[in-house]
Amino acid sequence: MKHDNPILITGASGFIGRTVCAELSRAQQPVLAMLRDPPRQLPALRREVDALGGQGSLVQAIGGDLDKPDLGLSEPLPALQAIIHLGARFAWQLPMVEARQTNVEGALAVARLAHSQRTRLVFISGFMLENHGHLTRLGINLMHANQTDWQQVYRRAGGYEASKLEAAIRVREYTRDHGVDMIEVQPATVAGDSRSGQLDSQQPLYQLIDNLARGRMAAIPGSREHWLPLVAVDLLAAIIARAATSSVVPPRVLALDRHTPTLQGMLTTVADTLQQRPPRRFLPMAVLAALLRIPGLPRLLNTWPEALHFIQTTRFDTKSSDTFLANQGLAHPPIQAVIAASTRYYQQQHRQPDQQPA
Ligand SMILES: NC(=O)c1ccc[n+]([C@@H]2O[C@H](COP(=O)([O-])OP(=O)(O)OC[C@H]3O[C@@H](n4cnc5c(N)ncnc54)[C@H](OP(=O)(O)O)[C@@H]3O)[C@@H](O)[C@H]2O)c1
Repeated sequence: MKHDNPILITGASGFIGRTVCAELSRAQQPVLAMLRDPPRQLPALRREVDALGGQGSLVQAIGGDLDKPDLGLSEPLPALQAIIHLGARFAWQLPMVEARQTNVEGALAVARLAHSQRTRLVFISGFMLENHGHLTRLGINLMHANQTDWQQVYRRAGGYEASKLEAAIRVREYTRDHGVDMIEVQPATVAGDSRSGQLDSQQPLYQLIDNLARGRMAAIPGSREHWLPLVAVDLLAAIIARAATSSVVPPRVLALDRHTPTLQGMLTTVADTLQQRPPRRFLPMAVLAALLRIPGLPRLLNTWPEALHFIQTTRFDTKSSDTFLANQGLAHPPIQAVIAASTRYYQQQHRQPDQQPA
């Protein structure tokens, strides 16, 4: 994989970003992290990269902010091997203006940078871009961004999801019109590291485990067919790294383990690991969505209506992505074991001091 020109990464300090930095630097690939505050963030990022088995010393930083005009880069860029765009505001209840500023305008600024640098753009969208029934229900025109009523999409899907969908469609349009070499990686909901289970506390799977552990999930949202497709963060990082460095990559890579169990199966694994009784009854989505309209209930249940969109019955075609993985010598780790490892990691974070192993 080694290449002397660095790969520029936005969102390098995030959960996925730091694992990508570790993956690339482990293979001797220099990395240039675009950080909002390099003096504060770079030392911590290097330590995290070392701890993840990468080489922190191969990570340099440049100041930049997705919210600033032309990214507000602190200095001229060297020749790049590729740009990986992971940076985004990732939260529920995001106001439309803020979500669009960072996730849509910021992504377009990164696409313009890839064009001016004549380098490949690896753009990280999400698996919902492949859920065409859902996109149609939201009223999205996949081919022409300006033929969608985005205000309506933001109202229906919430700021985070809507801005990710809008960003992908606008970046596809821009890169198509300007001849930019763009690979889109579409991750499922990200699970912890397949060995250590390491998972940031603001990640959706961590919050789901937390809800179950705290007894906030007496019933399973949806039906027996509903699922939340997952991908282990270390496999996702390897896919993103290969998308940036390999010569032959399909234009879209769906990073999703089709063997992810249904939500019922996932909650059973989490509950077994926590040594709790798993929920057995189902709460239909429409009922749950109606309940969550009661003021105060989303906060009480720590469940936001927009998060429910990611739990669906749709199955996805992963054939071409699975072929790419096989050609790269990559494979999904056993996902039930990843769910259990993520749950054990959660338990370690919540263990009382007197419960720490001696
Ligand atoms: N995690 C998932 O389940 C999942 C699934 C599908 C797609 N994705 C996509 O994957 C990407 C990374 O997700 P993640 O889970 O790693 O998120 P994360 O941990 O929240 O990381 C977000 C990153 O974006 C950076 N960022 C936010 N606003 C910025 C700004 N204005 N300028 C520059 N950088 C900014 C953050 O920097 P600071 O450290 O400075 O805040 C951080 O490095 C996102 O695009 C997300 O939509 C994630």
